[in-house]
This record gives sequence, structure tokens and C-alpha cells, in this order.
Amino acid sequence: MSERKRILSGMRPTGRLHLGNLHGALDNWIRLQSQYECFFFVADWHALTTDYASPGQITENTWDMVLDWLSAGLDPRQATLFIQSEVKEHAELYLLLGMITPLPWLERNPTYKEQQQQLDQKDLATYGFLGYPVLQAADIIIYRAHGVPVGKDQIPHVEMTREIARRFNFIYQREVFPVPDVLLTEAPVLPGTDGRKMSKSYGNCIYITEPGENVREKILKMMTDPARVRRNDPGNPELSPVFALHKLYSSPAEIEEVAEGCRTARIGCIDCKKILIKNVLARLDPIREKRMELEGKPDQVRETIRQGISSAQKVAAETIAEARRAIGIDPMRT
Ligand code: TRP
Repeated sequence: MSERKRILSGMRPTGRLHLGNLHGALDNWIRLQSQYECFFFVADWHALTTDYASPGQITENTWDMVLDWLSAGLDPRQATLFIQSEVKEHAELYLLLGMITPLPWLERNPTYKEQQQQLDQKDLATYGFLGYPVLQAADIIIYRAHGVPVGKDQIPHVEMTREIARRFNFIYQREVFPVPDVLLTEAPVLPGTDGRKMSKSYGNCIYITEPGENVREKILKMMTDPARVRRNDPGNPELSPVFALHKLYSSPAEIEEVAEGCRTARIGCIDCKKILIKNVLARLDPIREKRMELEGKPDQVRETIRQGISSAQKVAAETIAEARRAIGIDPMRT
């Protein structure tokens, strides 16, 4: 068996991924897959906690995201990739953890109130939405993960997971669950084409598998330093979302060149954008090609995920058996 430490993370099925998702999470997962024993899953039940009234997109988004994962380089030979709702043990552990989770812990969860306000078109005064962190705790500890790679928005959830794991172990007087650590993903906020944070809801995204021609057009229309109105005005690259992308995609020499060229008005925004386009496409071309290849092999993709589900399920079932024994509710084996 593997000696590597085990980590787990999940993503809600938002459909095709954009550059913000790539740099915020996926690239990090791809790096981690060779260092840890990894479990990565599509959190489709989590999507249901907010989209229960219009779940129509969830399954399509799930497969779109899986295809993007594989296209960008998540490797099913290294990492276990699966879909949450296919591993029913998550639901059983969620139920058991629900018994021991104090209600005030959930009511205090900062994202609970925030999200209710932000998503005010949806009725989120539901049991499922309040219990979301318990489901997330089950997702994590069912694999007895040591680490959870997430962005800082997820820290409160992992902290609650730690509390729930400790409380279970204490109440049933057995170390069933290791207490997992956050593996913080440090990712700068990636600006979208309009300069605001890249986000599907703002319509300012560049998707990792969109046609090269679209990528080119979007970058050409992208906002730059708003103070640089005419070609001869000197600009401040730090105020330009185009420059933020250069920092991720261009070589140190190119970054220096466009920064200096912008400050002195030696180059125009179009020149600067052309260099960016070349570099972004160099990264995205192979991802898009891989995606097209995988779209032609849906059975193979499904089989890959079927195997991931089956490996995940094996580990999850062992943990459930132990949790049931610890509690002492396992009537047919007692
Ligand atoms: N809550 C996470 C998000 O919204 C997704 C998620 C669900 C998750 N279960 C998880 C992340 C377990 C890490 C571990 O992004």
C-alpha cells in the first residue's frame, strides 16, 4: 500500500472551468497528485444544497468538469477521481455525524449567513443548506485524509471538520478519524476581462477549453489601465488585468518588456496583448486538444470515473464499518 500521506479535495460542479479555477485550484491538484495519495471528487450533492429547486444543470456540469480535469492533466493513474453522489457512504457518515454535531456550530458558520444574503433569490432556509458543513466533514474524514487542499474561503469548513472528528472520537472513545489539516492554496485573485474577479456570474471568464479564436478576441477586448486612454499616454501595468495575466503566462523577460513598454508608452496595449495571447494559447492549446480527444471517447471517461468511484467506495466502506462498530450500531455483525 501507499506510504504517501492522503489528501482529499472537492469542487462543486460549475461546468467548464475558467482560468481562475485553473490557477486557484486545479493546477495545485495536478502538482499534488505526484506527492500525495489523492482523492478528488465532484461535489454534486453540495451543488444540490443551493440548487435543489433547479438541479437541471448539475449532471451536465459534472461531466463537463470531469472532462476539463482530465484535459488539464489530472491523472487517474495517480489520483482517485470520483463523483460524490455515487459513493453513498458519504450520506451514511453525514447522517451519523449529524447526530453529534451541535446546532450552534452550524448556526455560527460564517458562510451560512453570508451565502443566504448573497444568494437571496434562493430560499436557503433549509436543513440541507445548514447541514452542508457536516456533509463536507463526512467527505473528508470518510477517507481519513490528513490534508485538505483548499482556498482560504474553505478554512472555516475544514476547522469544523476538525471539531466534528475530535468530538466523534471523544464520544465513542476511539480514534476512528484523524484530525485533518488545511493545506492552504495560495492563489492571487485572478482578474477577468473587465478587471473584476474572474467569475462565471460576472460573465468575464476565459474558459480553459474555449476555441483559440475566442481567447484571442477576449484578450483583445480586455480592459487595461483605464488611465491610458491614448497610445502615447504612459500606463501603469499594475492597474491592468492584462498585466496580471502576463505574470502567470509570460517569461520574466517578456514581463519586464511589457511593463517597461507600458510605463514609457513605447508599446501599445495591442502589442502587449499579442504577447499575452501567444503565451496563453501555448498553455491552452494542448488542453483544448485533449478535451476534443476525450469528447470522442465518452465510454472511456465513464470507465475511468467508474474505477475511481469503486476505489473510493472501498475505502469509504471500511471507515463506515469502523464508525458503526465504534458507535455500537451494527446489528447484523454483532
Ligand atoms: N465546499 C467546497 C466548495 O464549495 C467543495 C467541497 C465539498 C470540498 N466537499 C469538500 C472541498 C471536501 C474540500 C473537501 O468549494
